[in-house]
Amino acid sequence: MKGIILSGGTATRLFPLTATTSKQLLPVYNRQMIFYPLNTLIKAGIKDILIIVSPEHSGQYLNLLGSIFKKYGVNLYFEVQKLPRGLAEAFILGESFIDKDDVTMVLGDNIFEDDFSQEIKNFKSGGHVFAKKVSDPERFGVVKFDENNKAIEVVEKPVDWLSDYAVTGLYIYDNRVVEVAKNAVPSERGEIEITSLQNFYLQKGELQVSIVEGEWLDAGTFDSLLEAGNIVKNKKIYKKFDPIIDRAIEEFNAELKALAKKRLG
Ligand code: TTP
Repeated sequence: MKGIILSGGTATRLFPLTATTSKQLLPVYNRQMIFYPLNTLIKAGIKDILIIVSPEHSGQYLNLLGSIFKKYGVNLYFEVQKLPRGLAEAFILGESFIDKDDVTMVLGDNIFEDDFSQEIKNFKSGGHVFAKKVSDPERFGVVKFDENNKAIEVVEKPVDWLSDYAVTGLYIYDNRVVEVAKNAVPSERGEIEITSLQNFYLQKGELQVSIVEGEWLDAGTFDSLLEAGNIVKNKKIYKKFDPIIDRAIEEFNAELKALAKKRLG
């Protein structure tokens, strides 16, 4: 299993904060947002992770993450997405990285309270996505269920109500996803939609949809970013990181302190 974190985008809703850095490098309480999706993948034992970033922020990602996990056997790779052409483009940009393996992707601004390591480790084939009950489903890809609660379709930002279940930014796919993404036709807004991948697997009866019970925070607006920080602090979610991440950050901090000391003389 390979891992991808899609961490590009334009983050227009967070201007002017994102005029100087990437949304996913903004703080959520005491850590940069990107550590949350990294945690989702590292907790599941994934050792090879591709981080897709926009060109203007690539240096900042390298400065923060360039070598901090090396000694723990977690290899990070970086790829630049020149323009935000849609979530499913991750699997095209990541084709050679994914190679013959299956892949789990997390969006760089998605924070989950739950631990998905069992679902990721037990994945066999097809697709597996995670839906969460929300009050504003029209903003998301929404799962339509039949009378037996079986998922039958995923619709991107539906105008008419279909259900309250939004597809969250965690996706597990088998290796076919690369070809499916390559063959997907861009939508009216010019993006290669991840919804088309969901529907490919659904039509074959090979998409599993699980319900997310814990917090799901998508920190893309001022309010949700602030709320994410507060929830992470108050529910002590920041204390539930994989030990690899805690240790790597401690070591990075020690290195920063030593450098600061040298500078101060
Ligand atoms: P969005 O929040 O939909 O887009 P955005 O981050 O550009 O923000 P805004 O709507 O405020 O302009 O994207 C969801 C996540 O996916 C986020 O982590 C950015 C990432 N993303 C990419 O990396 N590449 C893309 O082509 C798109 C569409 C999103």
